[in-house]
Amino acid sequence: MRKLRLILEAGRWAPTAHNMQNYEIIVIDDKKLLKAIGSIKVQPSEEFIRENYQQLSSSKRELLRKKVGILGTAFPPKWRDPKTLDEVVREAKPEPLRETIQGSPTIMIVLYDTRKRAPASKGDVLGMMSLGCLMENMWLMATSLGISFHVMSVFSSIDVERELKRTLEIPDYMKIAFAIRLGYSKSTSTKFLRVRRDVEDFTHYNRFS
Ligand SMILES: Cc1cc2nc3c(=O)[nH]c(=O)nc-3n(C[C@H](O)[C@H](O)[C@H](O)COP(=O)(O)O)c2cc1C
Repeated sequence: MRKLRLILEAGRWAPTAHNMQNYEIIVIDDKKLLKAIGSIKVQPSEEFIRENYQQLSSSKRELLRKKVGILGTAFPPKWRDPKTLDEVVREAKPEPLRETIQGSPTIMIVLYDTRKRAPASKGDVLGMMSLGCLMENMWLMATSLGISFHVMSVFSSIDVERELKRTLEIPDYMKIAFAIRLGYSKSTSTKFLRVRRDVEDFTHYNRFS
């Protein structure tokens, strides 16, 4: 409980555009509620399946070379083969959220108010960036406390949002930005391959080209 408070406190001090603090956070630690959320089904969209494929590397070697994206081996083989993507799209069926949240005693759902935006910010880009600052502040605190912080973007999908609005009595004008699964990793030995572009790849001096 003390650690959760520290994570929320770190989020509280995140910078936001115009200091709007444009978020609400629902902490869910009630077992029955977590079970109910776990039974919500989500249909992978064609958009997700195809754009997800664009980010996959088929081996560690390829990922190390590309330095962007994620390792495709975390996905079923059909999801990683361009020849079988059409089949995946056709056969995709709703899967329960259980798989995504299981093992976690606490999840947090971050909401924002669609009726407001950062002043003159088209599409509230500045508001969205502020939510990213909130995410990062909480993430850094959780990591420093040895708590795993798993972002779950799927919570903002239409299907999940609709169900959660009903279950958690969230007003219509609020939107789910993302959710986080907190917990302690079972294994500390698992090493994930982490890649990044080199600083020289994305830094431009004095002009773009
Ligand atoms: C806005 C945002 C959304 C993300 N959504 C997810 C997600 O839905 N599922 C997930 O497993 N990781 C998610 N992540 C984590 C990224 O996949 C992760 O940061 C990236 O793959 C790099 O991994 P690394 O930082 O461990 O090297 C998200 C991160 C951000 C910033």
